[in-house]
Amino acid sequence: MITKVRKAVFPAAGLGTRFLPATKAQPKEMLPLVDKPLIQYGVEEAMHSGVQNIIIVTGRGKSAIEDHFDVSFELEQLLESRNKKDLLATVRAVSDMINVAYVRQKEALGLGHAVLRARELVGAEPFAVILSDDVIDSDTPCLRQLLDVYEFYGASVVALLEVPKENISAYGVVDAERVGHNGGRDRLYRIRNMVEKPKANEAPSNLAIIGRYVLTPEIFESLESIEPGSGGELQLTDGLKHVLRSRPIYGYRFEGTRYDAGDKLGFLRATVEFALKRYDLGEEFRSYLKALPL
Ligand code: UTP
Repeated sequence: MITKVRKAVFPAAGLGTRFLPATKAQPKEMLPLVDKPLIQYGVEEAMHSGVQNIIIVTGRGKSAIEDHFDVSFELEQLLESRNKKDLLATVRAVSDMINVAYVRQKEALGLGHAVLRARELVGAEPFAVILSDDVIDSDTPCLRQLLDVYEFYGASVVALLEVPKENISAYGVVDAERVGHNGGRDRLYRIRNMVEKPKANEAPSNLAIIGRYVLTPEIFESLESIEPGSGGELQLTDGLKHVLRSRPIYGYRFEGTRYDAGDKLGFLRATVEFALKRYDLGEEFRSYLKALPL
């Protein structure tokens, strides 16, 4: 029997240096796309994928994330007294949304280190990892797509994205072979090897790992046993590579559009496209953009 995934870990303890100065006193995960913080998009994706328990790995200066998912009595009272029912419902929906637990990463020692901090809360069961600065717009939530593969094979699955050669060195890159069967999907790969941030001419493929994972609990032992890698950080990719010695890992080239909202240009793209899709803003925003002297 394949154990169901019940928990999603959100590493949110990084320093967000690519977005300074905005991230000096404010977590990157709280930057809003239109009117919703990045991390809320990720949490909603987990919920819509059927994963109800959220574990957020936070660090120094991240208390705004905890406040965001907490009840705000003063704000609710004020909205109630002014009879702002819609806004009240929006605010309540956020705190009612999730069953959330927090764990601290005292120092930003890498994504692998952040995931390892969640070990006690996850326990010996499979779990999801969502990096909330990778925002994914898709019909079926990206995490749900990965869970479908996990529920078939009972093995770890990572989200893959085709990336142009000139950008590949920013990612963990896989060496993988297509898996032909399984309903004729051409999106599924079995991973042979992976490398964190390879030089462009040494990358084993153009398939990069992006911020969605379903992991079996062996990853914790692997992360405990490896040394820091690229950039002196404990890398999740290196932990996965260690798991590969004894277990299969799959990659799924997900359907959807991914925005790197942790990067300024990616964030701007996501802002424009999400605003254009909004029923309450889209039309007016489109007219505004069209009138710009570009
Ligand atoms: P990034 O690679 O985007 O790093 O982390 P960062 O520090 O957040 O941002 P930049 O590159 O300096 O601008 C990917 C994810 O892993 C988390 C981050 O919060 C982000 O969600 N992370 C990274 C941690 O939780 N801890 C770490 O030590 C490193």
